[in-house]
Amino acid sequence: MSIQNKQIAVIAVDGPSGSGKGTICQLLAKELGWHLLDSGALYRLTALAARHHGVELDDVEALEVMAEHLDVQFKASDSGKAVQIILEGEEVTHAIRNERVGEDASVIAALGPVRRALLNRQRDFAQAPGLVADGRDMGTVVFPSAELKVYLDASAEERARRRYKQLISKEPGASLDDILNDIKARDARDMNRAIAPLKPAPDAVRLDTTQMTIDEVLQAVLDEARHRGLR
Ligand code: DC
Repeated sequence: MSIQNKQIAVIAVDGPSGSGKGTICQLLAKELGWHLLDSGALYRLTALAARHHGVELDDVEALEVMAEHLDVQFKASDSGKAVQIILEGEEVTHAIRNERVGEDASVIAALGPVRRALLNRQRDFAQAPGLVADGRDMGTVVFPSAELKVYLDASAEERARRRYKQLISKEPGASLDDILNDIKARDARDMNRAIAPLKPAPDAVRLDTTQMTIDEVLQAVLDEARHRGLR
């Protein structure tokens, strides 16, 4: 098992679905000119690859092999603005974001062998000049020596409202109640699993974003980075 590359600065950002991690991490990486690890995408990709290959979500051995040998490329688009995700030669950038894949990802993420198989792949993202790592166990397991650990949270109701706003233009039938129930179920699974459960690292800076704008959260994290000499 490779250990964290201590030469490279890492900002680890953890938190539940809808806490704003994804957006904040993208903005942070852009602002600092650092690499970005979207670790949730790796769990989603493993889940999607399992579906493509007809692997059941309780077939731990086959899922471990799938995670170990995941054939994935993260390609900067021509405009350089977005990242395209290619799984086994097929573009899946949008396909991995649907709710079903998210559910499947949350199920397989509870399996120790799958998590171990993805560990080194995640640590390999730590390249100069630095890495912003987005996930559930970035500060606790994957990058325990990160220079800055942030735990973003928001009430389940606010997170459901945010998800509903994103979805409603694409899925006019989306229901706020259903989304809230899904978020609560996902939280319970991610927080109560035996291995690498979602929880703040003891030394994480905790931010409740319920009443904060994206820019306020970004500035708060950048201030913490500045205090640690990371800017
Ligand atoms: O952040 P996301 O919604 O893309 O993550 C999808 C699922 O993957 C989430 O329910 C929990 C899991 N996950 C995890 O267990 N550990 C991570 N570091 C990232 C995601």
